[in-house]
Amino acid sequence: MESLTCPFGTFKLQRLPLRKNETLRAWDAADEYLLTYIHEQFGQALPQKPLIINDSFGALGVALAASQPVQWNNSWISYISQYHNAELNGIDSKQIDWLPSTNRPDIAPSAVFMKLPHNTCLLEEQLLVLRELVPEGTTLIAADMAKHIHTSTLELFEQCFGPTKTSLAKKKARLIFSTVDKALPAVNFNYPRTIDHNGMKLVNHAGVFSRQKLDIGTRFFLEHLPEALQDAHIIDLGCGNGALGVHIAMKNPQAQLTFVDESYMSVQSAQESWTANNLQGEAEFRANDCLTDFPKDSADIIVCNPPFHQGNTVGDHIAWRMLQQSHEVLRKGGELRIVGNRHLGYHAKLKRLFGNCQTVASNNKFVVLSAIKK
Ligand SMILES: C[S@@+](CC[C@H](N)C(=O)[O-])C[C@H]1O[C@@H](n2cnc3c(N)ncnc32)[C@H](O)[C@@H]1O
Repeated sequence: MESLTCPFGTFKLQRLPLRKNETLRAWDAADEYLLTYIHEQFGQALPQKPLIINDSFGALGVALAASQPVQWNNSWISYISQYHNAELNGIDSKQIDWLPSTNRPDIAPSAVFMKLPHNTCLLEEQLLVLRELVPEGTTLIAADMAKHIHTSTLELFEQCFGPTKTSLAKKKARLIFSTVDKALPAVNFNYPRTIDHNGMKLVNHAGVFSRQKLDIGTRFFLEHLPEALQDAHIIDLGCGNGALGVHIAMKNPQAQLTFVDESYMSVQSAQESWTANNLQGEAEFRANDCLTDFPKDSADIIVCNPPFHQGNTVGDHIAWRMLQQSHEVLRKGGELRIVGNRHLGYHAKLKRLFGNCQTVASNNKFVVLSAIKK
């Protein structure tokens, strides 16, 4: 197991979900740079209850646990990682408070440390919330790998928070220092925003996939979803704004729907999309890592537009996990229906897992596939 050594100590850290032969670390050079800087600034006299935002696998929370930080985060995987890694290092998880991105911090923090989120809309929302929250003169310290910090990123800090400068790069990482200016002009930020797709209303919070307009793969999938489902139990896996599950519920009012996503803002968006379409059936909305802890043999249909990355890491490991867990959670005779880019090779994967796979529809870019649990 790999350990992070920083001025606050040496900590064992793992990425979740755990994988055999994992080659990636649970932290990056930006975490190291930020922790070194915090130590230089504050030494052991760290301010109590700093706010840590977008900590991926808990490296910052674990290293700064003695200061009883509050973690503000959009990711369920970050949540379980935080507590997993605290336990690995014998840290009492009560030392770290967890605040999902769908709640707002309500007390001005003693200090703010941030990893940049992968989407600029979420960054904008976080900066605007912080600008209201922190006292005049507060300097927020953000970190990321230099390749993710663009001129437009710094402009966003300037527009939404206040005067901003950056550090020199170290091991290809950089720090951003931004000091709040409460007198900045108001920013026209229009999230959550509702989009309309053929009469279906879809609510999108800032941290949601394809929040400005419906993804083209999703659009294609909507034309090829299973039909005549009566009171079946259907899971929308990786639900985003809930487009797939809401569409199914509109056509099958007796169906029972479960919406699952690892992003809190997605789960919230799906729930608000449900309400916006006046749906009255049974529905559950759940932040989770894929279908972990779902009962086996419990679902009739699973629909999924799988992700092709985890955070900044491109790869099909989460998609593969979704397919494997779907096989376990489906009842005998149940169906997994997915959409994917043609080149992703899901056909072979489904055949391997389920022993069968039918092409329901395809165009020059996407393919909709169906596999039945035997
Ligand atoms: C390609 S998007 C599809 C969103 C939506 N179903 C649609 O078609 O517009 C994939 C979704 O999977 C979610 N996701 C990624 N990793 C996940 C995980 N480990 N468990 C559950 N959901 C995950 C992402 O947050 C994202 O909303």
